[in-house]
Amino acid sequence: MATMLTARLSRSLSQLPRKTLNFSEGENGTRRSLLFYSPSFVPVGRRTYADSVNPVGSKAVLVTGCDSGFGFSMAKHLHSKGFLVFAGCLMKVRDESSSSSLSSVQPCDDCSSVSSCPGLWGLVNNAGISTFGDVEFTSMETYKEVAEVNLWGTVRVTKSFLPLIRRAKGRVVNSSSIMGRLANVSRSPYCITKFGVEAFSDCLRYEMHPLGVKVSVVEPGNFIVATSLYSPERIRAIATQMWEQVPEAVRRDCGRKYFDEMAARMENFCNRGSADTCSVIDAVTHALTSTTPYTRYHPMDYYWWVRMQIVTHLPGAISDRIYIH
Ligand SMILES: NC(=O)c1ccc[n+]([C@@H]2O[C@H](COP(=O)([O-])OP(=O)(O)OC[C@H]3O[C@@H](n4cnc5c(N)ncnc54)[C@H](OP(=O)(O)O)[C@@H]3O)[C@@H](O)[C@H]2O)c1
Repeated sequence: MATMLTARLSRSLSQLPRKTLNFSEGENGTRRSLLFYSPSFVPVGRRTYADSVNPVGSKAVLVTGCDSGFGFSMAKHLHSKGFLVFAGCLMKVRDESSSSSLSSVQPCDDCSSVSSCPGLWGLVNNAGISTFGDVEFTSMETYKEVAEVNLWGTVRVTKSFLPLIRRAKGRVVNSSSIMGRLANVSRSPYCITKFGVEAFSDCLRYEMHPLGVKVSVVEPGNFIVATSLYSPERIRAIATQMWEQVPEAVRRDCGRKYFDEMAARMENFCNRGSADTCSVIDAVTHALTSTTPYTRYHPMDYYWWVRMQIVTHLPGAISDRIYIH
């Protein structure tokens, strides 16, 4: 991991602001220190991908969730690369920057226009929604609503278009998240859907390998300020509605102060992240065009990348101590 870290960091770790975590070791009371680095400082990692690419030719790709955010930019970028792009839109035409300006691609709100296409090279399952809330504050309806779009939507769309992709020996690119690799407090409704997308993608990749279809997962870090996934106004609206629906006993036990702090943490999170989505668009483009696409892409800043490595590779007792407790 040290070698990978060195390769990813263009500046020495010693130059970054750091925080020291002290551990007391068992009964002998020995103190040990662990250093980790502030998320506010770190730039977004830009990875250079292998550049052996398949010619785009007249290949067709379907991207879901193109009304805004990553999907909107992706549709336009892939079109500029020469793809015939079917841009899945909910068709809520809102302003200049929404789906109404996707005139040069093929906005579609049903599957028929894509199904009639002679071949489909790529499917990008990008559509998604998010919410927040501790487990006790989150209703079953909310869990189901988020899963319906993020998880079952991905499964449903993939199953619909897999015959076309399979015949073309094409690509499936699923949008997961850093929250599909590590869980976090107040994020269970979103995390469980993205962990599901990861598992679904792995199963699909194994099954499709002998058939020549390549399946990749893109796991963006925090780009909240660049997309419409969240806004401080939306956080406040969700919080107001959530508090009204929280069972009386939970309200009494947890208290309004704790609830408000949770919502404030989330609002604070929304003001962070990268405004430049190029690393996500590059990752999806590479997954669709490279002769050797990666299984997983990590367009995220160093803070989240290091946290993902620690949570993935170290025992839970250690990663919990660093990031949660
Ligand atoms: N932004 C981040 O920091 C971040 C980080 C990790 C992963 N992601 C993932 O990236 C993907 C794109 O999100 P984004 O950040 O670009 O957010 P976004 O701007 O809100 O885009 C999500 C898109 O999905 C569409 N959508 C929502 N519900 C849908 C439904 N039921 N059927 C079809 N389309 C639907 C939205 O349409 P409307 O706008 O019309 O509702 C919108 O076009 C999501 O899967 C998200 O989980 C985002």
